[in-house]
Amino acid sequence: MPLSIAVTRERTPGEHRVALVPETARKYRALGATLRMEQSAGTDSHFLDSDYTDVDMVGGIREAYGSAKLILRVTPPSPEEIAALPEGSVLIGLLKPFEDKARLAALNARKITAFALELLPRISRAQSMDALSSQSSCAGYQCGLIAAARCTKFFPMLTTAAGTIRPARVLVIGAGVAGLQAIATCKRLGAMVEAYDVRSAAREQIESLGAKFVDTGVSADGAAGYARDLTAEEKAQQTEKLAKAITLSDVVISTAAIPGKKAPVIITTDMIARMKYGAIIVDMAAESGGNCALTQPGEHVVANDVNIHGPLNLPSRMPTHASELYAKNLYNFISPWIKEGELTFDWSDEVVAGTLMCKDGVTVNQTVKQILGEV
Ligand code: NAI
Repeated sequence: MPLSIAVTRERTPGEHRVALVPETARKYRALGATLRMEQSAGTDSHFLDSDYTDVDMVGGIREAYGSAKLILRVTPPSPEEIAALPEGSVLIGLLKPFEDKARLAALNARKITAFALELLPRISRAQSMDALSSQSSCAGYQCGLIAAARCTKFFPMLTTAAGTIRPARVLVIGAGVAGLQAIATCKRLGAMVEAYDVRSAAREQIESLGAKFVDTGVSADGAAGYARDLTAEEKAQQTEKLAKAITLSDVVISTAAIPGKKAPVIITTDMIARMKYGAIIVDMAAESGGNCALTQPGEHVVANDVNIHGPLNLPSRMPTHASELYAKNLYNFISPWIKEGELTFDWSDEVVAGTLMCKDGVTVNQTVKQILGEV
């Protein structure tokens, strides 16, 4: 029996991505898998049903899932979708593992083996599977574009017959994958870019993109290459040193995050009160509470003539390439384990074990258990 793979249309509001693109469908077929997909699942990403020549198109969620062994998704399934998942099937996606205890309990009740790509170890071998990185690149790029489109100034320096225009001044706070892409995008558009991060490795990465590092003297390396929460003293030092750079900027793009926690608030109302009139803040951390005290998730608010944007689900604004990259991440994760029509995992493999959220009715990931409580 070949391995049966199923994909449905993403129903999360505002979600335009899809977990399978025609190119990866061909690769799964080449491994002997059969594929079933809900009609129009790729349409929002501009992949037409007719592009999926290797896939059977069917009319609804239950028809697509049928008795499939492997379910590919972008977002976590809703309760209705969980009810339609074949019992004991394998599910992979960006499953927001720290968010919803009831969802996890429902997956366990159906004995789903679920891999949450947010849990993927950030090791060299797993880079090709790293959906957080591929989607963060899309998000950082979009932040740069939003900022440039909303800014009332040119980003580049211009020498015109009427005189010279000075370049816009951009500050990027948080220089992980998204922040670095935002820096690169703003640099390509010609802005003068400064950036800041609490991880010590970030300085070199920021400078390698031609941006200036803002040194606050605060260094907060945490576990597994991530940042840790700042102490009260460190926060005060950061605020003091960063305030000047923020008030001099035309644009502030903030991407600071700590996995599994609320985003740190870095841009205070007092800083906003001292920013330039017409300045722009693009707060990519809006989804997890925001790096700016006045951010409203999904909204544009104006305070003291400063425009504060809290865009949500940025990768979904460029669904064609975001889906292409994401579908490749999924394929790279799962394809080594497809053998003779079966999914044969090595449960001791670091990448498999690290990404596994639940299996056989039990939550196995320790961090998920800690954050959500035993499920
Ligand atoms: P993230 O999305 O969790 O956080 C974004 C950035 O915010 C991070 O750079 C973090 O240091 C920074 N941040 C947190 N608190 C802050 C504060 N108070 N002030 C300023 N900045 C703050 O990070 P992301 O992009 O997921 O990357 C996390 C780490 O993983 C980075 O070290 C990155 O280089 C590493 N990584 C490693 C990969 C690998 O395969 N080896 C692949 C991708 C990322």
